[in-house]
Amino acid sequence: MGLRFIFMLTRNDKTVEDAEQHLKTALAAGVHHIGFKDVGLPFDRLRELNAAIKAGGATSYLEVVTLDKGSEVASAKAAVEIGVDILLGGTNVNAVLPVLAGKGIQYYPFPGRIEGHPSVLAGSIDEIVDSAVELAAREGVHGLDLLAYRSAENVTGLMAAVCTAVDKPVIMAGSIGSRERIARVRRSGAAGFTIGTAALEGNYPADSPELEAQLRSIQRDVAGVNNHLSPNTTKNLDKAFASFSETWSPHIAGQVNNMAIKLAKFEGSFVWHHHEVEDELFLVHKGRLLMKFRDRDEIVEQGEFIVVPHGVEHCPVALTDPCEVVLLEPLATVNTGNAVDDRRVTELPYI
Ligand code: NI
Repeated sequence: MGLRFIFMLTRNDKTVEDAEQHLKTALAAGVHHIGFKDVGLPFDRLRELNAAIKAGGATSYLEVVTLDKGSEVASAKAAVEIGVDILLGGTNVNAVLPVLAGKGIQYYPFPGRIEGHPSVLAGSIDEIVDSAVELAAREGVHGLDLLAYRSAENVTGLMAAVCTAVDKPVIMAGSIGSRERIARVRRSGAAGFTIGTAALEGNYPADSPELEAQLRSIQRDVAGVNNHLSPNTTKNLDKAFASFSETWSPHIAGQVNNMAIKLAKFEGSFVWHHHEVEDELFLVHKGRLLMKFRDRDEIVEQGEFIVVPHGVEHCPVALTDPCEVVLLEPLATVNTGNAVDDRRVTELPYI
């Protein structure tokens, strides 16, 4: 399962004043998991916010950052009353579980010792793992909310240790503000992560600090980390082909289930080969292609495609320079098939 991105309508651990407006932007950008915190806005507005998240088809999250038991129980009751899908955070599990019993809300408390506001995660990795194991064993606990990037410990080691020790989903929270950190979260085995402040302040690497650009950039990075490309954005073939010059070197431009969309520039003649099990589609985007078969030749004009069935020997030849071709074939298909040729490529770059 892919890594889940939860957009928090929060800055510095508080739900932001203009949450409703940001919610509209997030829904329009195709974000499907949206949360807020129990601090920052009055109860009535949180209720409306939650209703708007659900009306937009997204899953709602309330993260509890108040630390005293009374406030935490009040927040859990509020979560029940306004009907959030998932309750994140909090540490008073014994007090909260009875509130949630039978209410159909998933519960992901904080493992470890939480201090201060904005919250930090105190203690050693071993202590946090012990707490995580103990919590995850509880009935009514569906997962954990790990404040990984609010720990002074080695964050990568901490995330991996917790994810290895428990068999319930773990959401990572804290300062996840780059693709590299998202990739690290993914490698740790986490189920998801939250970003709030970085996107709302325009600090995530993107074309612009505007929230929409921030969210699209995060989603693109999540898709890349999940090995699923271009989920929500269009891809322009002219621009994509202009972004590389190597010939006979397919670039991956997208994926449709287990089929890859590969872009390649052909020049001159390739090598005779076949593929044991994979069919290949060649769609000419620019130029003319000659597809040689042992019994005949086919010319593929710009805007036309040809499918070469598996097992059939073929040899593509560019009749123009360049000849830009869109290939549709399994990700693992090697360009040279069964042939031995130094143009064989196995590690394809992504565009
Ligand atoms: Ni081939």
